[in-house]
Amino acid sequence: MGTDPRLYGDGLLGPVVPPSRGRLTDQFLMPPFSVWDAKQGFWQERKRLWLGLGIQSEAGRKEKMTYNIPMRVQTKMGWRISQTSVFDPVVAELCYTWWCRPGGIIVDPFAGGSVRGIVASILGYRYWGCDLAAEQIAANQAQLTPTTTGRYHPHWVCGDSWDEVPKAPLADFLFSCPPYGNLEQYTDNARDISTMDYAVFLARYGEIIGRAAARLRDNRFSAWVVANYRDKRTGVIHDFVGDTIRLFEAVGLRFYNEIILATAIGTSAMRANGTFRRGARKVCKGHQQVLVFIKGDEAAAAEDIPLPPQPDVRPQDKW
Ligand SMILES: C[S@@+](CC[C@H](N)C(=O)[O-])C[C@H]1O[C@@H](n2cnc3c(N)ncnc32)[C@H](O)[C@@H]1O
Repeated sequence: MGTDPRLYGDGLLGPVVPPSRGRLTDQFLMPPFSVWDAKQGFWQERKRLWLGLGIQSEAGRKEKMTYNIPMRVQTKMGWRISQTSVFDPVVAELCYTWWCRPGGIIVDPFAGGSVRGIVASILGYRYWGCDLAAEQIAANQAQLTPTTTGRYHPHWVCGDSWDEVPKAPLADFLFSCPPYGNLEQYTDNARDISTMDYAVFLARYGEIIGRAAARLRDNRFSAWVVANYRDKRTGVIHDFVGDTIRLFEAVGLRFYNEIILATAIGTSAMRANGTFRRGARKVCKGHQQVLVFIKGDEAAAAEDIPLPPQPDVRPQDKW
């Protein structure tokens, strides 16, 4: 697991972890199951502590672009309400510590906000992220302080991933949260894949995945955070998860872990009644997916990612 003393032991996030939360949680931070429940108190508390280090991942984004819910965030200046979405830092923490070798190079073709870069840096990884939005990159850079950076500063590149990813360093882990088609449009730039119709989007998205996969070393994992989403015009759901799996498989990676990320309900509770009645029985979305792929041999990949020693098994232990 991560080694930064600010996060573990007596460090900043340390006090959140009670003396024992059960064998699996103590070893792996969360039990290695296919459902990650981000609604749990422990998860939310850890998320707040991460964000409280000074991460403002929504900075640089248009107001109210919500992949997640607005949330109360504790900073050194007190509590503030984040109105726009932030990538969940606990998702980044789990993905890095479970599937990337210590100190490894993380390549992120759709970097968005600062969370994935800052969490990587604090945990001692080297992060390379690309985003088309200059404003976003500037906002991310502005958040680099001694508390938000570790040994290696995150490196953000402004440009089209289609051009930039082939110039990325060779990666130990590919990690991203791409635009979900045109569900949210990030910029007016014609190269922004969130401006494209689904068929064109998929073609370009697939090419970027292919270019990123070519930068991934052999015997390495990749994790991709995606969700199926409802087309605003037709009201039907795009199989974006399935399409993403097929695009990774087309470039030689194998689909290895499927995780349901149960997200906080937030404002959905207020919208659910209207959405279900007037929206002709549409249910509100409460989950995303973390898709994990392997390039090469999984045993060789895992060998380089150490786990904490296994404690003695006692029958009375809960997980
Ligand atoms: C889903 S958003 C990232 C949201 C993410 N949850 C976060 O951490 O903020 C995807 C990002 O992809 C970027 N993007 C879209 N097309 C791109 C392209 N061709 N090259 C690089 N970045 C692109 C957008 O500017 C946007 O910031």
